[in-house]
Amino acid sequence: MKDFIINNPSNLLVENSTNKILKKSKPLIFHKKLRNYFKTPLYELSGLSNNLNIANLFIKDESQRFGLNAFKGLGASYAVSLILKNKPEVSVFCTATDGNHGKALAWSSKMYNRKCVVYVPRNTSKLRIKGISSYGAKVEILDLNYENTCKYAFNISLKNNWEFVQDASWDNYETIPAYIMSGYLTHLIEMQDTINFINKPSIDIVFLQCGVGSWAASCIWYYLNRYGINRPKIILVEPNESSGVYDSLNNGKRVSPVGNLTTIMAGLNCGIPSKSAWNIIKSGCDGVIKISDNRVKSSMKLLYNPYENDSKIISGESGAAGLAGLIKCLSDEKVKKLKKHIGLDKNSRILLFNTEGNTDKESFLRIINN
Ligand SMILES: Cc1ncc(COP(=O)(O)O)c(C=O)c1O
Repeated sequence: MKDFIINNPSNLLVENSTNKILKKSKPLIFHKKLRNYFKTPLYELSGLSNNLNIANLFIKDESQRFGLNAFKGLGASYAVSLILKNKPEVSVFCTATDGNHGKALAWSSKMYNRKCVVYVPRNTSKLRIKGISSYGAKVEILDLNYENTCKYAFNISLKNNWEFVQDASWDNYETIPAYIMSGYLTHLIEMQDTINFINKPSIDIVFLQCGVGSWAASCIWYYLNRYGINRPKIILVEPNESSGVYDSLNNGKRVSPVGNLTTIMAGLNCGIPSKSAWNIIKSGCDGVIKISDNRVKSSMKLLYNPYENDSKIISGESGAAGLAGLIKCLSDEKVKKLKKHIGLDKNSRILLFNTEGNTDKESFLRIINN
């Protein structure tokens, strides 16, 4: 099996309910009103880009988002606000999570004085669970994988009349995931005065790490909607052992990952890709690259030990996956076809997102100090 797959996108957005919700959304106006909002920094790492022999390397640091150490608060808060506008009577929100989305929903529920119940799959780290319960949510560990934890949380929410807020969609469950994807648009809009200029962005390639694909799809939707065929090239990055989008592209339809689901990239260790994300990904991504845990560990260290005057970046296991994908694309002979396909060379201007900081501090320190 190859470490990459090339996709031939249509570059067209399908007119469906998710597209309509994304088009109508005004997430930045909403987020700006939140107490601890500020625009997260966009760093340019010139020392690292010189070292990698590319023109520019930008990284949007989402570890600083709302004090949550990850970008996920953008989606959950926007979704909760829209749900409560239509259904103010909701008293309990519920979700399944491998960490960051659960913490984000717990934080959002607390903001609106609602209760929150969060189910986590087996092997979820104690510190990530503590992060969720620190916002007052009830957390329950299930002896299930991520996909089955989602099913359990969905069914128990129906039974108890709780509002189920999942960051992945499937048949007949697409509205709330679309609200969440709308919320993610904020960090792309925030870059409109720096790199996401009006007719053409001043970057060539974006690397986006993928779990169920909702976040990557919302970024793809943004670039397609704003720039059409002038969009940057987009490469998705997945862990070797949990590569639902790669496996789905390989099969021509949405499938659960065929790997053994063991990876330190907990945020990317998901199941079958989200239904609405899948449609957008097929329309606007240029390929997928798979990476190992070792590559991501090296990338975490690279970001933590900056070159020259670069900023020091605290990047967790899923946060550093974009950089790991870029470095693999630049340096691994086995993926040179993908490198050529996207025109990655010394003139390339690259955008990455540090989607999480040290969400498990113990694991982070073990990796950095090793
Ligand atoms: C830190 C981090 N990065 C990226 C992702 C990927 O997002 P998605 O599951 O929407 O693909 C997640 C998902 O939880 C995450 O926690």
